[in-house]
Amino acid sequence: MKKVTVLLGGPGKEREVSLNSGKATLSALEELGFITSTIDLPENLDELVIQLKAINPDVVFNCLHGPIGEDGTVQSILNDLKIPYTHSGVTASTHAMDKWTSYQIFKENNIPTPETKKISLSENPYCPLPFPCIVKPINEGSSFGIYVISSDKDWEELKQNWSFGNECIIQSYLKLREIHAAVLDNVALGTIEICPKETFSIFSYQAKYVPGEARFLCPAPIDKDMEELAKTTALQTYQSLGCRGLARIDMMFDGKVFYVLELNTQPGFTATSLAPQIAKSQNISFAELVRKMVESARCD
Ligand SMILES: Nc1ncnc2c1ncn2[C@@H]1O[C@H](COP(=O)(O)OP(=O)(O)O)[C@@H](O)[C@H]1O
Ligand SMILES: [Mg+2]
Repeated sequence: MKKVTVLLGGPGKEREVSLNSGKATLSALEELGFITSTIDLPENLDELVIQLKAINPDVVFNCLHGPIGEDGTVQSILNDLKIPYTHSGVTASTHAMDKWTSYQIFKENNIPTPETKKISLSENPYCPLPFPCIVKPINEGSSFGIYVISSDKDWEELKQNWSFGNECIIQSYLKLREIHAAVLDNVALGTIEICPKETFSIFSYQAKYVPGEARFLCPAPIDKDMEELAKTTALQTYQSLGCRGLARIDMMFDGKVFYVLELNTQPGFTATSLAPQIAKSQNISFAELVRKMVESARCD
């Protein structure tokens, strides 16, 4: 049986989320009979290399989220060590993690996406898009640092409190139905609609991870042809970035068009996370999903 090492935790803001993904994955791997081990991502990446060499696994199951684990850094180390790993390779990970680069790739490929600019906050006395708009860090996840700007006052407050570097992206705020889709090994699996409580203006960190703060409808209650369009848009997005393995595509839907917000190369991965829920709606259990991902693990 294959030796599979789960990579989890790490020092970043998404540590807790990653520990949950890792724990769920580990028990599925055990249920499937794999020889398992875990590595909590150390701050010093030389230490990671030492631990990987000591274990010498057949496959690394990457359960990291956010910088280092999702931005191509870990993927590049695994390529060098020739250890096959789950999810996307270096280039897709690097591009997907950078919301400005992704936006440019979506535009080049005619994938619908909200109007977006990259700006330096210190050089922009006025907000460059009409209100309401949304400001995001270039390289974060889990809704960290996302602000809806509805007035000059919000804009001034944002500039005072912003702590994610000088540059950010600013985007038209689309108050639409939020629908995500999952793609596995170049096949669009299906959709899920996210309905945060009315009090939320976005699918925030709290709405994402506190039970009861959002409802999830899986598959999304949309017509068959719109379901097909969601899947086509998601697959095009996945292919435009050159992804592999599992990915989740976050979109807004106005009844006719799916506007892509981002693609997550390392989506949340507990049994009740969005991508696994989508898989389950297509009769792929969490353990089966884990097995398929181990099978399709590779290096660049
Ligand atoms: N342009 C937008 N219009 C409306 N809501 C948005 C927009 N962009 C993001 N959001 C909201 O913010 C959430 C997080 O944004 P997203 O771009 O997916 O970044 P993250 O990497 O933090 O998940 C989305 O799930 C959505 O609810
Ligand atoms: Mg998102």
